[in-house]
Amino acid sequence: MGAPDMLNYDVEEIVKGDKEYLWHHIKPHKLFETAEQLIMVEGKGLTVTDIRGREFLDVTSGGVWSVIVGFGRESIGDAIAAQLKKLPYFAGVYGTVPAVQCAEKILATLPRLGKIYFANSGSEANEKAFKIVRQAAHFIEQRKGKFKVLYRNRDYHGTTIAAVSASGQNERKEQFGPFVEGFVEFPHCCCYRCPFDKTYPGCDIECARCIEDVVQKEGPETVGGLIIEPITAGGGIIVPVPEYFPIVQDICKKHDIWLIMDEVVCGFGRTGTFWGHDHFDVDPDMVTMAKGMASSYEPLSAVAVKQEIFDLFLNDPADPDQRMNFFRDISTYGGCTGPLVAALETMRIIEDEKLIENSKEMGSYLLGRLQELKDLPLVGDVRGMGLFCGVEFVRDKTTREPVSEAEMAKIVASMLAQNIIVGRTNTSITGLNVTMNFAPALIITKDEVDRVVGALRYTVEAGI
Ligand SMILES: Cc1ncc(COP(=O)(O)O)c(C=O)c1O
Repeated sequence: MGAPDMLNYDVEEIVKGDKEYLWHHIKPHKLFETAEQLIMVEGKGLTVTDIRGREFLDVTSGGVWSVIVGFGRESIGDAIAAQLKKLPYFAGVYGTVPAVQCAEKILATLPRLGKIYFANSGSEANEKAFKIVRQAAHFIEQRKGKFKVLYRNRDYHGTTIAAVSASGQNERKEQFGPFVEGFVEFPHCCCYRCPFDKTYPGCDIECARCIEDVVQKEGPETVGGLIIEPITAGGGIIVPVPEYFPIVQDICKKHDIWLIMDEVVCGFGRTGTFWGHDHFDVDPDMVTMAKGMASSYEPLSAVAVKQEIFDLFLNDPADPDQRMNFFRDISTYGGCTGPLVAALETMRIIEDEKLIENSKEMGSYLLGRLQELKDLPLVGDVRGMGLFCGVEFVRDKTTREPVSEAEMAKIVASMLAQNIIVGRTNTSITGLNVTMNFAPALIITKDEVDRVVGALRYTVEAGI
C-alpha cells in the first residue's frame, strides 16, 4: 500500500469540516456563522489559490510575514524530503550535521555572537532568552538578583504566558493574567504618536532616555535583560530614529543589562538588511529568530548569544556546588532536522537570488509609492523599512483620530475584494489597530508593488 493521497478531497466536505473541527487563530468565530473561511490550497511565488479556485496576491508572506522566499520552492521541499529520509530527528542533546551547518551559516551573519540554541517558535526562542537571564541571576555572582526583563510598549514577543507578559500590547494580554512577574514595560518610540507629545528631532529622544528612569525605579541590581524588536512589527511597523538604539545600548551597558534583539519578524532580509538591527548602531547580547528562518516551510527558531554569555554556563558538573549551573533547558522539536535544512536552503536562495538587495530596492520603491498616498484622506502616516511597510489610517488628519475598527475592516475587505491579501494590526492596541501592513515575500516585483498600491489608492479614493 502506498502513502495515502492527502491531496484528494471533496471541496464541500473540507469547507464543512473547517467549520466543524477547527478553532482558528485569533479569530472571533461568530464571524463564520455568516461568512465562509478562506481555505488555502496552493501557492506559487506570491500567489495563493483558495479552495474555491480564487487567486490572491499575498502581501503578507503567508499571513504573518514568514514565507520569506515565496511559495512553491521545490528545492526546499526536496532538501527536507532528502533529510527526512536520512535522519528526520535526533534530540538537541546530541549533534546532527544540519544543526552544525545551520548554526555556522547563521553565526556568520552575527559575527559578535558565538553560540546558537535551536527551538521551534518565536515565543519559545524568547522564552530561552528569558531563562538565560533568569538562571544567570541565580548563580553568577555579579548578576545575582538581576532577573527582571524590560520590554517596550507596542512590541510583541509571543504567545506563551511569559512571552505575553513581556509584550506591550494590551489586547494580546487582556484576560490572560495573572502575568509572570519580573517583566517591566517602557514607552514605545512611535513619532507619529509620541508618548511624550514631542516632535523629532527636538525631542532629545526621550523615548530612549526614559529607559534609564525605568531602570532606576526598578533598581538596576534587579534588571538583567531588555527585549526589543528592531522595528516594532505587529504593534504598527514602527521604525526608531537613528539615535534611538545607541541610547538604549548605552543604558544597557551601563547597568549590565543584556540586550535581547527580537528578530523574529525582521530577520532574514525582511527590512533590506540581513538583520533588522543591522540598520542601527547597536550590538545585541542575544538575538532571537524564527518566521523567515526556514521561510516557514518548517517550524524553526533559535536564540543566538554572545560567547561570554555561553561561557558563564561552563561549569564543572562534577563539582557539587556547580552541578546545576549549566543551561538546563530542552526543546523536543529543536532537534528536528527538516527545519534546519529548510533554513539552509532558504539562506542559499536569499543569497543566490540576491533577495536582500531586492528587499531593499523594492522596499524603498514600495515605501515611495505608499508615500504618494499621503495626500489622500484617511492616510495618516506611512512608515517602513525594506519590504516591511505600514500605512496608518486616520479619520481626521489634523487631530490624528484613528479610523474605527469597522472602518479598518472595510479597508482590508476592499483589498481582498481586489484579490489582494494585506495584513493589519490585529487585536493589538485598543483604538490603534489601524495600521495596514505590507510584508510580501522578498521576491516581489515592481509590477506587483504597483498592483498593490493601485488597489489601495482605489480603496481610499472610493472612501469608507
Ligand atoms: C516580534 C515577534 N516576536 C515573537 C513572535 C512569536 O513568534 P511565534 O508565533 O513563532 O511564537 C512574533 C509573532 O508574530 C513576533 O512578531
